Amino acid sequence: MKIKSWTIWMVLSTGLVWSCGVLQNDKPTQTITIDIDAKAPLVPIQPTMFGIFFEDINSGADGGLYAELVKNRSFEFEYPWMGWRHLPNPETRFNTINELTIMSNAQNHPNNTRYVRIDKRDTSADFGFQNEGFDGMGIKQNDSYDFSFWARNNTGNVRVKADLVDTSGHILGSVELEPNESIWKKWEGTIKSNSTEEHARLNVYFLGQGQLDIDHISVFPQDTWKGRKGGLRKDLVQLLADMKPGFMRFPGGCIVEGRTLDERYQWKKTLGKVEDRKLMINRWNMEFKHRPAPDYFQSFGLGFFEYFQLAEDIGAEPVPIISCGLACQFNSSETVPMDELDPYIQDALDLIEFANGDISSKWGSIRSAMGHPNPFNMKFIGVGNEQWGQEYFERYAQFAKAIKSSYPDMNIISGTGPFAEGELFESAEKELTKLKPEIVDEHYYKNPQWFLDNAGRYDNYDRARYKIFAGEYAAQSVATVSPDNRNTWECALAEAAFMTGLERNADVVYMSSYAPLFAHVNRWQWTPDLIWFDNLTAFGTANYYVQKMYATNTGTKTLSIKSNGQNMTGQHGLYGTASVDEDQHIVIVKIVNVQTQDVNVEIKLQGMVGQKTGRLISLHNKDLQSFNTIKDSDTIVPDEKDILVHDGSMTLKLAGSSFEVIRIPSL
Ligand code: AHR
Repeated sequence: MKIKSWTIWMVLSTGLVWSCGVLQNDKPTQTITIDIDAKAPLVPIQPTMFGIFFEDINSGADGGLYAELVKNRSFEFEYPWMGWRHLPNPETRFNTINELTIMSNAQNHPNNTRYVRIDKRDTSADFGFQNEGFDGMGIKQNDSYDFSFWARNNTGNVRVKADLVDTSGHILGSVELEPNESIWKKWEGTIKSNSTEEHARLNVYFLGQGQLDIDHISVFPQDTWKGRKGGLRKDLVQLLADMKPGFMRFPGGCIVEGRTLDERYQWKKTLGKVEDRKLMINRWNMEFKHRPAPDYFQSFGLGFFEYFQLAEDIGAEPVPIISCGLACQFNSSETVPMDELDPYIQDALDLIEFANGDISSKWGSIRSAMGHPNPFNMKFIGVGNEQWGQEYFERYAQFAKAIKSSYPDMNIISGTGPFAEGELFESAEKELTKLKPEIVDEHYYKNPQWFLDNAGRYDNYDRARYKIFAGEYAAQSVATVSPDNRNTWECALAEAAFMTGLERNADVVYMSSYAPLFAHVNRWQWTPDLIWFDNLTAFGTANYYVQKMYATNTGTKTLSIKSNGQNMTGQHGLYGTASVDEDQHIVIVKIVNVQTQDVNVEIKLQGMVGQKTGRLISLHNKDLQSFNTIKDSDTIVPDEKDILVHDGSMTLKLAGSSFEVIRIPSL
């Protein structure tokens, strides 16, 4: 590469401005032409174009986003002592002097029947139990933690001492409380930590003598998202907020369906005080033999109210998905008879009232009592997740009829099932077309080559048909559900290429989201995932940055972008899309170079005159197999610089294996 002038060299070396038009002598091998005539933008891009998909898989909610640090806080797991061990040693419980007994009493609380009875007959100070957290507890130096429990004192004066301890047993911080009332009551204290520890534990000691009943033992960081008590992990929400997602789909995924109907997600059971929410097994606990997670349950501390609130916080349209009366067809396929479907349909109608209803309505008043008198303004509802066959279509039709008759403006999402093509997919396309749904959810868990080959999937799509929600997709480096899948740069690059086709066809594709969203580095079941975290930190994968670059650079309308007069769908390894943000007056060009070698291109914005300073955001790495890790989280992260554009023209050297977003002021 030859540099033509000192001025440019100086500018380059300061990193201030990269003047693409005069930078190099290398002749561009391709010319990319964009028609920026503001009067001729092609089609509107929906604000919901790029969103997020949330599911409690891989410890996404409990042990992840939901910041509770105590596992099995109410002793309601299948085995009540799971996550707990007795102190000073496991045999302590059989000690005849002091006893810890699991009591079960439905009259006490129908949703939360168990509690622990402590009979403390001597005054020894080291009798109690320890909670192991979710792979330990992430505790930060100088941070404060809310320790709480429910208790009733039956006799004597048993005091409760809570210590957060590191892996060697050193105390990080403590608090002591004296629950001396004879009725069930919540007791709270604060523990300040003197040190940072990724795998801390909670030791709860019972001091003094007497009998005490205790339940719902909880530790939360005070430093949560928006400082909400009992709230969400701040760093994880921040990563979501930074993406500026157009929508948030929740609560899944297969978790909506359940392995059986009993295990389906029932949103009404996730409301009210967290102590009253009935815990349920997480369907991912033993789904994969290669990643068993017998201690994976859903506390529903992150329930539907919190999902709506989170969507609102991050400016995303809420997109709840509900059970259509069919349990997961990969599991039991348990099916509700058509003449017993009404309660399921009622759940959908009540959900709309919960989200949007006036505070005088039954469900609107429940929302209001939970702290949100204003409606959440929900516009979308999904019926079923990965369903297939006639059982699904007829159930969907019943739901759609009922929802539309009460809420004609609601956008209803149906789905083509788990596969991106093949017999099941094609029959779903055919049947759904007859039912005239508004938006249809398609899922693509395929290899990177499939994503490259399908960048033109919607170019010749029947425009009279329904709109597309690319509701779950991720390139798989090995195979779907293989534990060896990695979030490689090759996968992310293929997704970036595929997404040019989603954006180019914004008149067909209204929504899209990568899946799954979160994974704990030691407590995952499914890989690849968009964001990984441990108990203290979190990082975005290369795929995350691709999603973020799309979602934070979505125009309001598409523009025509051509190379040699054609859509850029992989000719010479290049993929492209262009749009205009009509509010900010910015032209946004996205180009993916999947060749391993650098390539020079000339980009011409037809109709632009004068000199402009634009911004080039670039994600690149020569090693297609590289990926970000918790230790090396910045192997693939975007860099940014200014670029000069002369009379709408610039020559760019696109790095081999790169994804570039170029933003140019259009006024
Ligand atoms: O994203 C993980 C799972 O993949 C989802 O729960 C399901 O819908 C799909 O099969």
